[in-house]
Amino acid sequence: MLRLIPKPIKNLLGYAIAALMTCLLAIACTPTSPTSNPTTPNSPATGGNQTSIPIGIAFAQTSNVALLGQEGVTGAKIAEAYFNKQNGVNGTPIRLVLQDTAGDEQGAINAFNTLISQDKVVGIVGPTLSQQAFGADPIAERAGVPVIAASNTAKGIPQLGKYISRVSAPVAVVAPNAIEAALKINPQIKKVAVFYAQNDAFNKSETGTFQETVKQKGLELATVQTFQTTDTDFQSQVTNAINVKPDLVIISGLSADGGNLVKQLRELGYKGLIIGGNGLNTSNLLPVCKTLCDGIIIAQAYSPELNNPINTEFRKLYNEQNKKEPPQFSAQAFTAVQVYVEALRTLDKQTKLSTLQLPELRTKLNETLLAGKYETPIGEISFTPEGEIVQKQFYVAQIKMAPDGNSGKFTFIQ
Ligand code: ALA
Repeated sequence: MLRLIPKPIKNLLGYAIAALMTCLLAIACTPTSPTSNPTTPNSPATGGNQTSIPIGIAFAQTSNVALLGQEGVTGAKIAEAYFNKQNGVNGTPIRLVLQDTAGDEQGAINAFNTLISQDKVVGIVGPTLSQQAFGADPIAERAGVPVIAASNTAKGIPQLGKYISRVSAPVAVVAPNAIEAALKINPQIKKVAVFYAQNDAFNKSETGTFQETVKQKGLELATVQTFQTTDTDFQSQVTNAINVKPDLVIISGLSADGGNLVKQLRELGYKGLIIGGNGLNTSNLLPVCKTLCDGIIIAQAYSPELNNPINTEFRKLYNEQNKKEPPQFSAQAFTAVQVYVEALRTLDKQTKLSTLQLPELRTKLNETLLAGKYETPIGEISFTPEGEIVQKQFYVAQIKMAPDGNSGKFTFIQ
């Protein structure tokens, strides 16, 4: 049970015993210590309440995947501060518990195990890559812990189990928009060269969608080149592609490899349009390919310009902190935390959270979140019974670099 600790408890020893007993009985709760420093990870997000509700955040904060994962962390933290200012869950603050997944499956598995068994979170947001989700999500499923993916876009993620849902729209609905945008810019496109990272589940899924769309549009799939997300030298694949004289290149990779591939394509003389997939959808790509990033087309599941109250708030908070427009991964992470908060509020009104044991709370939270409808920074969303996101609006952006090559932005073209 999520119990409130009687207050005031002036004696520190009494406080510690009460807190220990409460937390043994209860869902993972963090008592407000009179001496706790509000900036430490174990302290509640706001003062004045005796407990907080822990939500696990399993993103890549280290490794090459941190280029994507850090944007998720930023969005989740903005959500934590924002919703706690709005009275949290009917008066009880939420508390994010961050565990670094790094870039591989084992990192995600370790983070999930810690969040589930040690941190006793009510639910998890993450992991960063679909490749990691295929390893870690079954652990949460077996433990009966809700997972909301905020950046996993490969086919098959919600199908991993009934506790697994996502707010990151799948490649099948997002990626084709980029090809349509490229055809609007250059209706003469005929030959297409496709590149993809063959060691990554999401990139294999995304290239499948890109290749099918190329064929559906009556374009010629002139060559398919493969690489690894850890590669830095793409000379031979680029040479092979340039030899078929493509009018369009489509890349499914992550940001460091994707950025280097774009750079080498341009350096070796490719002049046509380039589409980057979701793994290139971050301004962390810009320092890699600099001026040569100019013109990359990337489909988007978020636009900073979306005109609804929560996006206006989110955009303002993100802008104040980061002095730039929010990216998709931050908006989706904010949205995932929002879904938990709103579902917890609904559930608490039906059955006081303080009366529920943790396993029951996790199960009811999952049922409640799947049944909800949410007005979020990515627009109005809901879920299919399987946990797939139902989202209405999608966009396409093109990277515009400043002439000095040191800064650039995503310009929305559709
Ligand atoms: N969208 C990427 C994935 O699913 C980050 O792995």
